[in-house]
Amino acid sequence: MTIPNRDISTRRPDLARWLGSTNDITQQFLAFGGRPDVVSLAGGLPAAELYPIAAIQAATERALTRHGTAALEYGAVAGLQDLREHLAARISQETGGQFTAENVLVTTGSLQGLSLVGTVLLDEGDLVVAQSPTYLGALDAWRPRQPTYAKLDWTLPDPIPDDPFRRAKFVYTVPNYSNPTGILVSQESRAALLDKVVETGTWLVEDDPYQTIALDEPPGRSILALCAARARGPYAGPVIYLGTVSKSLVPGLRCGWVIAEPGMIQALALAKQASDMSSSMLTQAITLALLEDGFDRTHAQTTTATYRERRDVLCDEAALRLAEWFEWDKPVGGMFLWMRARNNAIDTDELYRFAVEKKVAFVPSSVFDFDGQDRFAMRLNFTRSHPDLIREGVRRLEAAVLKYLAAR
Ligand SMILES: Cc1ncc(COP(=O)(O)O)c(C=O)c1O
Repeated sequence: MTIPNRDISTRRPDLARWLGSTNDITQQFLAFGGRPDVVSLAGGLPAAELYPIAAIQAATERALTRHGTAALEYGAVAGLQDLREHLAARISQETGGQFTAENVLVTTGSLQGLSLVGTVLLDEGDLVVAQSPTYLGALDAWRPRQPTYAKLDWTLPDPIPDDPFRRAKFVYTVPNYSNPTGILVSQESRAALLDKVVETGTWLVEDDPYQTIALDEPPGRSILALCAARARGPYAGPVIYLGTVSKSLVPGLRCGWVIAEPGMIQALALAKQASDMSSSMLTQAITLALLEDGFDRTHAQTTTATYRERRDVLCDEAALRLAEWFEWDKPVGGMFLWMRARNNAIDTDELYRFAVEKKVAFVPSSVFDFDGQDRFAMRLNFTRSHPDLIREGVRRLEAAVLKYLAAR
């Protein structure tokens, strides 16, 4: 073993200040997923046993035959041109708007899209109006810019406050089966939000990864579509729409996209060139082969019945074992059940420690809150685990709650 030379290793510059305000909870969840002794209801993952391996194998073959060595090169920063064109045609068809490849940036997952939006729009301390509670990955992505936040709370009668919109660099929302709450935002609220964004002259980031996971109710018309319908000619609206194949197909392709007006796409591409040069050309070519067939849509339909059953198992088991302490609405789509402690009587940051001891994992609400103040709810995932495992997870959670209450 080499003994480090203390003289040269002890004194080093500090890490950047923003690291002091972050946490590694996402890494913890991903690690729990790989531990067979832990029932992880924490991550937002599809069911691995439903991954379409044969279709991806065939798509890989087609992709390499069609694109040859180009699929193995660095690529254009904005993405594989054929994929950009395909996505533009698909979005035009879905929304009735006029989109071209100039409106499309392919990203390494939609998380990169969120990060790039932060890079091009936020200076230190700028204001973001974000749906609250907020997707944890988005908060992580923007943290290096240390923004301030104002809340857009869809559960309030008047969720759209006036003043912050005028000062905000952008508004962030996940209207279809949101993460973490699972809510489906109504068409009226979507239209009202768009009105407010247009009136106040800000940007709107619409993040839509769960669109295909419709369990009881279909997804709403996207705000992008509402916006495109109001304008004639090529799309030039304030909505920045993010899509991905992570939930409809597999997360491992790491393929997402941003749809926006061309000037914004160019700005995002400038930020992306310094981030990863280009997304993997190989997985873009594979994704294109899968999308061209419409395979993502048919595959998502085949997973729905499984996810519906798992959601019902989680709700039923929770009703049996956790209803004394928690309440929730049954989600009509997506991947998550959002459980709120009755009368704020359980601190889920505290409960988390007992849960990990009992070998079950969930995500405590504090990490979805800008200021970490909401400590009385938790997010449980129902898509990843087999029904028996979900039941076992809830049993362990009940044991964790009992131990937490006894220890108070
Ligand atoms: C709301 C939301 N946005 C973005 C992402 C990131 O997805 P991707 O795998 O495309 O980066 C997720 C993943 O969980 C998500 O829940």
